[in-house]
Amino acid sequence: MGGGFAGSHRAVRPVELRWSDGSDLRSAVPSQPDLTAGPLLWISRTDGPVTGLADLLGPEDMADAEPMSDLLARRRRLVGRAVLRTLLAACLGGAPADVRLAREPCAHCGRPHGRPTVAGAPLEFSVSRSGPWVLVAVARTAVGVDLESKASEERAAALAQRMHPAEAAYLSGLAGDRLRRAFTRTWVRKEAFLKALGTGLARDTRRDLVGAGPRPRSPQAGWAVADVLAPRGWTAALAVSAG
Ligand SMILES: CC(C)(COP(=O)(O)OP(=O)(O)OC[C@H]1O[C@@H](n2cnc3c(N)ncnc32)[C@H](O)[C@@H]1OP(=O)(O)O)[C@@H](O)C(=O)NCCC(=O)NCCS
Repeated sequence: MGGGFAGSHRAVRPVELRWSDGSDLRSAVPSQPDLTAGPLLWISRTDGPVTGLADLLGPEDMADAEPMSDLLARRRRLVGRAVLRTLLAACLGGAPADVRLAREPCAHCGRPHGRPTVAGAPLEFSVSRSGPWVLVAVARTAVGVDLESKASEERAAALAQRMHPAEAAYLSGLAGDRLRRAFTRTWVRKEAFLKALGTGLARDTRRDLVGAGPRPRSPQAGWAVADVLAPRGWTAALAVSAG
């Protein structure tokens, strides 16, 4: 994606990364993609075979996945990490396994489980995993993405009250599938913004107005939020700072 995003209300289309059975994931990724015009957005399935998967990962990826007893979830997490590393390596140069991923201190408790970063590189990124999909944004400025399957009506009704008062008022007029759709788009816009801020859900979800209606709102001067075209059954959004 490129410039003009901040004023546009059209949903942004991510590049779908595909690699055919047996091919190298790296062959699907453009080398040195241009980030000057704005964030780049990729979506990929994480349930296909990946040649040389272990060579794309760092030891911390294996350690993160180790406690996961659900083997499918574990595999998806590792492939998602390989996709992320391959994209970051394409932007930075070097091998995917050598990208130095780090975590900022948590905005809530200060422990090192806050916003993910690349140590020593002027690059920002955000990742969201849901079902078989991983969505990744890479940018020169703060960025956040979120991808979710459609919320149940019960969850939508319960969490609608924890949105910004203007969003809660909009959602209170809806029921059934309209509520599910409107709540889910509100939620992904909100989570994308809170990930871009680096607070995640430690920040009160009532605080920022990202919009519950068909068009997202800018929650603060210098920030843009856009809906992202997601696979059928999923909803996604992107938040990016002007700098
Ligand atoms: C981070 C969070 C938004 C993730 O939401 P989710 O829908 O479950 O998961 P997603 O797949 O969309 O995103 C997961 C990714 O978010 C990123 N992430 C985690 N914390 C983040 C933060 N503070 N800011 C930005 N991104 C963050 C990570 O890259 C993570 O991927 P990884 O597990 O592979 O490293 C949510 O779990 C959260 O806010 N948690 C923290 C709440 C908190 O701070 N509590 C206080 C703890 S002391």
